[in-house]
Amino acid sequence: MVNDASHVIAVADPVELARMAADRLIARISANAGRAAICLTGGSSPKRLYQLLATDAYRSRIPWDHVHWFIGDDRFVAADDPLNNMTMARRLFLDACAPEDTIHPIATDAADPQEAARRYEDELKSYYGFSRLNPARPLFDLVLMGVGPDGHIASLFPGHPALHETERWVVGVPQAPVEPRLPRVSLTLPVLASCHEMLFEAAGADKRAILARVFDGEDLPANRIRAAGETVWLVDQAALPEHFRGR
Ligand code: 6PG
Repeated sequence: MVNDASHVIAVADPVELARMAADRLIARISANAGRAAICLTGGSSPKRLYQLLATDAYRSRIPWDHVHWFIGDDRFVAADDPLNNMTMARRLFLDACAPEDTIHPIATDAADPQEAARRYEDELKSYYGFSRLNPARPLFDLVLMGVGPDGHIASLFPGHPALHETERWVVGVPQAPVEPRLPRVSLTLPVLASCHEMLFEAAGADKRAILARVFDGEDLPANRIRAAGETVWLVDQAALPEHFRGR
């Protein structure tokens, strides 16, 4: 829902959208004098941003040794499968730019998604230093997000029990109801919300219908999340619902 802590920034097209996302990401990294934690997302929406981060102009602005890269959800497929979200991010920028020990993939070679979830939860807790989240000290500097056609975020789908999880940091999702219909591993709402900024990217006419529903305040996963800090929806003209044009 678009409320006081959440706002929409309309941009011309996917090129401007990626540029603005990259600038916001770098601003969040710069605002943290220590090590910064970024939670990446999968799907197609962030691809242009990831490509941009690998270009000289952006690469030179990131203190790579001080930034840790996590993933909000992944498909339970081998690391060398192109459907693996972290593999996509690696291929587009991380492998060329980030030291290996700053990249934190979900272990999709675990016995099952539940085991992978337990391991990632341990990894997040060990990075954070505590096993309880402190609202005054968000885990992530920035969480990147995409929204699915049914309003899902990460791998938290409408009507799925994982949406209501408040204890676990990471859960195994037996089957996704949308393509790719694979088992997934997903961070839970309270953990994704533990961030200084949640940055949604949505571009293209295919996103317009779901954005209209989200911005109208429908009860969808995308509206269930309340980031500790700011929530920004970066939306290009093609994706912008009719009644949001001109705002
Ligand atoms: C995934 C994602 C998922 C995605 C949305 C939007 O693994 O598929 O993490 O939550 O962000 O479905 O996907 P697109 O960016 O491809 O539209």
